[in-house]
Amino acid sequence: MKVWHRNHIGDAREARVSIFDHGLLYGDGVFEGIRITGGRVFRLHDHIARLARSARAIGLELPLTPDALAAAVLATARANGEAEAYVRILVTRGVGELGVDPASCKEPELFCIVASLRMFPDEVRRQGLRLMTSSWRRPAADVLDPQVKSLNYLNNVLAKREARLKGFDDAVLLNAAGHVTEVTGANLFAVLDGVLVTPPTIDGALPGITRDTVLRCRAASGLPCEVRSIGRYDLLAADEVFLSGSGAGLVSVASLDDAVIGTGARPVIASLQAAYTEYAISHGVPF
Ligand SMILES: Cc1ncc(COP(=O)(O)O)c(C=O)c1O
Repeated sequence: MKVWHRNHIGDAREARVSIFDHGLLYGDGVFEGIRITGGRVFRLHDHIARLARSARAIGLELPLTPDALAAAVLATARANGEAEAYVRILVTRGVGELGVDPASCKEPELFCIVASLRMFPDEVRRQGLRLMTSSWRRPAADVLDPQVKSLNYLNNVLAKREARLKGFDDAVLLNAAGHVTEVTGANLFAVLDGVLVTPPTIDGALPGITRDTVLRCRAASGLPCEVRSIGRYDLLAADEVFLSGSGAGLVSVASLDDAVIGTGARPVIASLQAAYTEYAISHGVPF
């Protein structure tokens, strides 16, 4: 487990952050999660571009250029040495005074961690996830825009905590209008009447890189694809539902609120899984 911080790569357990960092005090910052597979960093430049968009959306200047950041990620991945791993880049507003005003923070901090991450145990992945509908709603864009991958994940944390306490694997978050957005750390897809459907980002979904990859690989599923609003009913009526994310990969959903989804046959995710794995190898940056 390695970390890049201020031009130095060291053991991730030894990295330190100030208790006056506004990332810690207020969740003021942005982050990225990137899959390393087959010794390659998957769609590295697209992840850095999304990080830059998140940072711009909250008025935070990245302390490194995209090229320097890519070099830091690759150097940390090389130091870590594992062909299957996960990259976490985080940029905080930096050290400031004890007040929410970010003006007192003069220098953003950037950490790049390379470690392993497995979002669900193998057995759960094989069986399919048991999801519940969260009692927490996804915030609207004028509250805390879910398109910004910010360090403020309390909404996600509380939904995940509720799901785990109730014995589920994860939770589906609806928005205030009752539209499905995503789960706590991944996007959602449903196969509905022979169409592969995923909710639009405007409903409160992160513009996931894995989601985008599934959309690019959709020919493998043999199905047309639509990005449109769906409700809880659509998930319950779907033939297949699955998650996509850098941490999760592609994972089938077995049930929602204990109602079984589909017949148990999962041909669409099976064909997409193969196409996604191939895409990941051919679109990764070797280190
Ligand atoms: C809330 C949320 N939605 C969706 C995703 C999936 O995005 P990506 O495929 O870019 O990892 C993530 C991160 O993995 C996430 O944290």
